[in-house]
Amino acid sequence: MKIQPVKGTRDFYPPQMAVRNWIIDGWKRVSVRNGFEEYDGPIFEYLDMYQIKSGEEIAEQLFSFEDRGGRKLAIRPEITPTLARMVNQRINSLPRPIKWFSVPRLCRAERPQKGRLREFFQWNIDIIGIDDVLADAEVIFTTVDYLREVGLTAKDIKVKISSRKLLGVFLRGIGIGEEKLDAVYVVLDKKAKLPADTFEEILKEQVPDKKMAGKILDFMSVDSMPDVEKQIKADSEEFRAWGEVKSVLGHLDMMGVGDFCRYDPSIVRGLAYYTGVVFEVHDIVGELRAICGGGRYDNLLQDFGGPSIPATGMGMGDCVLEILLREKGLLDRQLPVPKLDYFVAYVDETCKEAAVRVTMELRSAGCPANFSYKAGKLGKQLKEASAQNAENCVIIGDEFKERKLVIKDMGSGEQKVVDYEEFLAGLESK
Ligand code: HAM
Repeated sequence: MKIQPVKGTRDFYPPQMAVRNWIIDGWKRVSVRNGFEEYDGPIFEYLDMYQIKSGEEIAEQLFSFEDRGGRKLAIRPEITPTLARMVNQRINSLPRPIKWFSVPRLCRAERPQKGRLREFFQWNIDIIGIDDVLADAEVIFTTVDYLREVGLTAKDIKVKISSRKLLGVFLRGIGIGEEKLDAVYVVLDKKAKLPADTFEEILKEQVPDKKMAGKILDFMSVDSMPDVEKQIKADSEEFRAWGEVKSVLGHLDMMGVGDFCRYDPSIVRGLAYYTGVVFEVHDIVGELRAICGGGRYDNLLQDFGGPSIPATGMGMGDCVLEILLREKGLLDRQLPVPKLDYFVAYVDETCKEAAVRVTMELRSAGCPANFSYKAGKLGKQLKEASAQNAENCVIIGDEFKERKLVIKDMGSGEQKVVDYEEFLAGLESK
């Protein structure tokens, strides 16, 4: 029996690897142009680090193990705790604001489904040390900057923005106890992912009081800004939280991406550490899981034993993104096609060594080049050259005795005889 890959993992054959590299190259390019610097951490950490503040959902999805010394470890399901740990460690020497990005490979023991696997790549951008919603807006702008660059428009995706702070004030206001909040957030985060009756069923477990549950559902359904405004008391904590949402939306308008963004109270986020503005990007039809999600987490560094430092950021996985880009026909069109500058063909075995040598000269000069392992018929070698998208074919034949080569332009079919030394000199001067 052939050995099977593990459920929820992917093998990256060259075509899949090309997609992965193209996605990650784009993430990195957009991060750098928005002023973020790259970092990384280990792929496993102490298990309890993920049990402090990520929340129950992540804790249930951990791949954990014990090392030979009996230490309990876990493969990283997200990089935000590592980031908090790393920043805390050097808090006094790091110049602020900290604007960092990373593309970690993550593992979560989730039920594999469309867009959710057990191993994936996740683009992270985070801004630490800025207590201003302008930083939240910059995180969202950078996210949209990438999505726009790969061809998605406001007709394809929506950035749904809300506030964990606003929801928290509301929930406390209707009588939900502080100790219950995290569990209620996890349930509310599932609203859009579950059929209405299943959702109401699990909400009942956390909020048995029908009237209270009704109020929560009402709160989560009012998405018109003037209607929200009517319900908010002036000069209250709620008022200030709502002001942050409006301010983020205002900044995003000013940054030129306002048409992608809107207030959406159904966004809660499953992770426990969020404290302020939160957001997710979804496909407009709403048939896929979130493309990405993030928000403000002002207490995490302190919860990890550091000083109180504000932070905001987001994570975007590669899975839903790839599905959406494929569905929209944006992937094949943009993927770079592997190409050769030269394919070196030769007429018979006696010319093989010369062909290998010429290929190596070409490669040393920085030109992608290949040769055939077998001195097959010239026509067959030319086919091989076309299959490898060679722009030119060098043909080594009898002329090589007089240090001459035949160069065939694979596009036009034109052929010319050139002097070998002149040809090499021409490559070096390029
Ligand atoms: P998260 O919502 O758990 O947030 O994940 C963010 C994104 O990672 C999701 O929207 C999705 O694109 C991708 N993702 C999550 N789980 C999977 C999975 N099993 N398979 C494929 N893709 C997945 C976080 O991880 C936060 N740490 C993000 C953050 C950074 N917040 C602030 N800074």
